Amino acid sequence: MNTKTGLLRLPLYTGLILLCHSSVIFKLYSQQASNASLKETFAADFLIGTALNSRQIKATDGAELQLIQGQFNAATPENLMKAQLLQPQWNRYEFEEADRFIAFATKHNMKINGHALIWHSQLPRFMQQMEDVDSVRQYFVRHIRTVAGRYDGKVDSWDVVNEALNEDGSLRNSIFLRVLGEDYIVEAFRLAQEAAPNTKLYYNDYNIEQPRKRAGAIALIKKIQAAGVRIDGVGIQGHWHVGRVPMEHIEQSIRAFSALGVEVMFTELDLSVLPNPLGGNTAEVSRTAKYNKQLNPYPDGMPDSVQRAQAQAYEELFRLFLKYREEVTRITLWGVHDGQSWLNNWPVRGRTNYPLLFDRQMVPKTAFYQVLKSKSPGN
Ligand code: XIL
Repeated sequence: MNTKTGLLRLPLYTGLILLCHSSVIFKLYSQQASNASLKETFAADFLIGTALNSRQIKATDGAELQLIQGQFNAATPENLMKAQLLQPQWNRYEFEEADRFIAFATKHNMKINGHALIWHSQLPRFMQQMEDVDSVRQYFVRHIRTVAGRYDGKVDSWDVVNEALNEDGSLRNSIFLRVLGEDYIVEAFRLAQEAAPNTKLYYNDYNIEQPRKRAGAIALIKKIQAAGVRIDGVGIQGHWHVGRVPMEHIEQSIRAFSALGVEVMFTELDLSVLPNPLGGNTAEVSRTAKYNKQLNPYPDGMPDSVQRAQAQAYEELFRLFLKYREEVTRITLWGVHDGQSWLNNWPVRGRTNYPLLFDRQMVPKTAFYQVLKSKSPGN
């Protein structure tokens, strides 16, 4: 054999072998990847939750249902257990959707977090202009007793009070504060404890990783505990932006909250990739802004660089969660996939955002794989 052709042939053969090989490797990898499951990967660490809407809990087959079943072991109703939907008219309750949600989550072995008993947003219409003190008090007591009582033993936990704090740590000027006074939060937990002795009770808020608001949350938790009332955990919502995830504050918060003897959870995690027109991080649903094209830079797809930055941010977060796996009990993503995210319509209507771990076709994103990587040996 002529050495020249022999030498030429060698790379050709090696190339061919490698090519066959790499396609096999790729096949194996993608098979493995499509079987990869968040809930299984983190089974020994914390629950992996998602927010579900009323369409999703009616599904009996399809890719979305598969994703829900395969990836998540905890569920929070995105809207359907909010007061507006549970009690649309004065003392008239509608439990059908909530019951369906509970049946769905139970069937799929998901822990259920009820969301939320007392919250200033998405209140029933009749409460929005309510000024009568007795009526507010009556609503407050009866809503908690009725709803928490009905679902005791059926939901695992409740966000008893949601978003009661201002950014400076003081109490938000809500209808409950104005009418009932500053003890209303302790009262809400007391009522929930009586009505739902078998249900864990949580305080939930956004930005409570930030030092001033965190201090407010700590004071609030201490006050509940000092009154001899049960509070089992605190939920940091986790609506953040890629490039501005407050890692240090998050770590400090996990330490500070868990030092109070309560569970720490990340309850509404999503990482927006779009410009924030509101100036400063917030998840206050009543704050909105008008659409313009600059605010919607990626209507046709997420650029690779953004995809990578988001994946990196998610991986860093999960590494931190793993570092505190003794303290952190649940990570809930606020939605199953990008197409469902509330961030497509808030704070600006009609944008295309990409904040979650699965894309609009239900396909795992780079961020999904990097989240799994946070768990791999050596990390
Ligand atoms: C959002 C839902 O995702 C939307 O569908 C709805 O229109 C508004 O509320 N903090 C919370 C959640 O506690 O209940 C909010 O959910 C997001 C901010």
